[in-house]
Amino acid sequence: MPIYYHAETRQFHLYNKTFSYILRILENGYIGQVYCGAPLAPQGGYPFLDPLPFYGFSNNERNSIRFEYPAYGNGDYRLPAFSVRFLAGPAGGAQVVEPVYKAHRIRPGKEGISGLPAVYTEDDREADTLELELEDAASGLRIVLYYTIFASHNCLARHVRFINGGEGKVLIQNAMSFSLDLPDPDWNMVTLTGAWAREFKLTEGPLRPGFQGVESRRGITGHQQNPFLLLKRPGADDFGGEALALSLIYSGNFLASAEVDPLGILRLRIGINPEGFSWELEKGQTFDTPEAVLAYSSTGVNALSQDYHRLYRTRLARGEWRDKERPILLNSWEGTYFNFTEQKLLEMAKIARDLGIELFVLDDGWFGERDADDSSLGDWFPNTKKLPGGITGLAQKITALGLNFGLWIEPEMISERSRLFAAHPDWAIGVPGRKRIETRRQYVLDMSRPEIVDHLFSVFSSILSSAPISYIKWDMNRSLTEPFSRSLPPERQGEFFHRYCLGVYDLYTRLTRSFPGVLFESCAGGGGRFDPGLLAFAPQGWLSDDTDGFQRLLIQTGASYVYPLSSICAHVSAVPNHQTGRTTRLAFRGMVAFFGVLGFELDPAALSPEEKTGIAAVIDFYKAHRALFQTGRFFRLRNPVSSSRAAWMALSQDGREAAAGYFRLLARPNQGPFRLYLKGLDPAARYDLTVWEDGGFSEADKRRNTGCRGGDELMYGGLFLDSDHAHIPQEGDFFSELFLLRKIEAGKPGA
Ligand code: DGJ
Repeated sequence: MPIYYHAETRQFHLYNKTFSYILRILENGYIGQVYCGAPLAPQGGYPFLDPLPFYGFSNNERNSIRFEYPAYGNGDYRLPAFSVRFLAGPAGGAQVVEPVYKAHRIRPGKEGISGLPAVYTEDDREADTLELELEDAASGLRIVLYYTIFASHNCLARHVRFINGGEGKVLIQNAMSFSLDLPDPDWNMVTLTGAWAREFKLTEGPLRPGFQGVESRRGITGHQQNPFLLLKRPGADDFGGEALALSLIYSGNFLASAEVDPLGILRLRIGINPEGFSWELEKGQTFDTPEAVLAYSSTGVNALSQDYHRLYRTRLARGEWRDKERPILLNSWEGTYFNFTEQKLLEMAKIARDLGIELFVLDDGWFGERDADDSSLGDWFPNTKKLPGGITGLAQKITALGLNFGLWIEPEMISERSRLFAAHPDWAIGVPGRKRIETRRQYVLDMSRPEIVDHLFSVFSSILSSAPISYIKWDMNRSLTEPFSRSLPPERQGEFFHRYCLGVYDLYTRLTRSFPGVLFESCAGGGGRFDPGLLAFAPQGWLSDDTDGFQRLLIQTGASYVYPLSSICAHVSAVPNHQTGRTTRLAFRGMVAFFGVLGFELDPAALSPEEKTGIAAVIDFYKAHRALFQTGRFFRLRNPVSSSRAAWMALSQDGREAAAGYFRLLARPNQGPFRLYLKGLDPAARYDLTVWEDGGFSEADKRRNTGCRGGDELMYGGLFLDSDHAHIPQEGDFFSELFLLRKIEAGKPGA
C-alpha cells in the first residue's frame, strides 16, 4: 500500500520508490504540508519534520506554517489555494472560511472526474487514492482533496471537489488543483514559454521573493505559456540533482505560480486561472477542479520528464490508438495551402505512397467557399469546385491508392462569411451591443452552449460516417475575446471560460467514443493548445507551425520536458523552410523528425529525384525503428538551448535497441573532437553500434564509432565525434549523425 496513515502523529504518508509526500492534520484541524521529497521509510511518523504545533493564527503568529490547501481570510496572507464567497444568510458576502479535517478514506485504484480528462488506472493495484474531506462547519461547505499515488509511476495526481453542503449559494472564486508549501526557496524555476511558431522555449531563473509564474487568460492554454512549472536545485541538470514539477491536465485558462514569502517558505499553485473565473454552487451542488500531476526526481530533470512521458502515454492517452504505432503522414498544408484541386491532391498522394507514406491528410480549404482564411468556417460541406466527388469521392480514391485518408477540421470556429453565421449570428461568442474582435478573420463558437456542441457532433459524425476517414486533425486558430455566453445568467458569466473548455471536452468525448478507430491529432495554430488535457482524447498533437529543422530541435526539446514522443508530431518540410527561409539537409530534418511521430508537409511533386530517394530512405529507416522513436525512453543528452552540439537519444522500453542523434548546429573551424556520453544502457551488456548511412557521416567518425562496444564504454567513455577536422568545411552548419545500438544477447554471435 503506498499510502499510510500514522494515527499518533496524524500524518498521511504517500509513498513510492522515488518520493514521499507527507501531510498531517494540524492541531486546529487544518491540513499541513510536512514533506515532499526523496523517499523516506514508509512506516512511522515524522514528528520532527514539522515540529510547530498550530492552533490557528494569532497576533503574534509567524506566517511560516505550511498548509496543504490554504484558505483566504484567516491569517495566512499568502495567495490562497481557494476562495469562496457565501451568498446568503447573515454572513452573506463573507469570504472567510475555515476548512478543518472531517474524515479520510484510503482506497485502491482511482476514479475519473466527471466531464474532465484525468489519469486513470486499469487495475486497482496500480495506485491508491487518499480522499481527505474538510468541512467549514459554519457554512456546511465541504472540500475533498483527492490524491492518487501510483506504484510504478513516479507521480502524484491531485484534484479537489467542492460540495455545497449548506443551505445558501456559494460562489467559488478561486479553486486551485494543487497547492504545495515547501520549506525553502532555493530553486530555479523552469517554464515553457513562447509565441506562435516558437513554442516551448525553456525559460529558467532563480526564484525571488514575491509572486512569479505563468498563466493563460486566452480561453485556451496558448502558445505563450504551457500549464507546467518545474523547480530544480541550483546546479541540477538533466542527469543529476533534485527537481520537482507540476503539470495541469487542462486546456483552458490556467495559472501556475510560485510565491516566496518573507520567511522563505515557497508556495506553488497550479489550477484554473482565477482571473475572470467564478462558479456558483447551489445547495447540494459540487464542483471538480481539473487534475494536476506532480513529479519528483532526485536524479535530475530527465528522469522526471520520463515519468511524465510514461504516465501520459499509457495512463492519460486512451483508446485504440494509445498503444498502436502511428502512421507516417503527408499533410497537404505547406504543399498547397488553400490552392488545390482533386487532381493535384491525387498526384501528391500517388508520389507519397510510392515514397512509403501511409496516410494522406487534406488540410484546410476543402469546404464551403474556403480559398483563403476569410470565409466558410462552420460550413462543413465539401467545395465541389475543388473536389467534384466531395470528401467521400476523394477519400475513396485515396484509399484505393493504398493510403489511409485523414481530414483537417476546425470545429470551434465560425467565419462571418459563412452560411452558419447567416443562420446563427448569435452562436459566435460576443457581448450583445458590442463589437466582436475578428482574429485570423474568424470568430469562436460558444462551446459552453450544449446545443452548439450537439450541432457540431451531428455535423462531424455525418462527415466521419460518409467516407473512409481514419484520422482527424482538429485545429483551433485563435484565442477567445469578449468572453460572454448568451445562455448564462449574469451571475454565472464567470463560468464561461471553464464551460467553454468542458464543451470542447464533451465534443471530443462524443466523437472519440463514436469513432474509436479514428486517430485524432490536436492542433491550435501549432502548439496553442498542446496540453495534457487534449492528450486524453488526441494521443498526438501538432507541436508547432514552425517546421524548420533547427527551430524544431529547440521546440521539441522544450516539449520533451513533459510530453511523450508519441504525442509529438514532427514533420519534414521543403527547403528553403517556409517560416525561416533556412535550408538544412534532408538528413538533418529527418533526424529531428525521427524523435516523435514522423510526417511530411510538402508537395512531393516538387521534389527532385535525389530528394525523393532521400525521403524514401528516411521513411524506410523510421519504419524499421518506429516503436523505438514513438515509445522509447527519451534522453536529452545535450540540450540545444545551451550548446551548439546537441544530442537526443531514444532507448526502447525493453532496453534492446537505442538510437542517438547528434546535431551540430554551427560549424566552427578547429573546434576539436568531443565525447558524446550515452545514457540508460546496461553497463554489463555489449552493443552492436552502427550508423544510419544516409546521415552525413565523415569516414573518420564512422570508423571510430561502429562495431561492438560495452554499455559501460558507451556511457562513461562515450562516442568520439567531430574527429576529422578537415571534414568540417564539407559538413557545414546543421550537420547531424545518427547512431543505432542493438544489445547483443548472451549466447548470440558477437557476444
Ligand atoms: C494552423 C495549423 O497549425 C496548420 O498546420 C494548418 O492546419 C493551418 N492552421 C490551416 O489553416
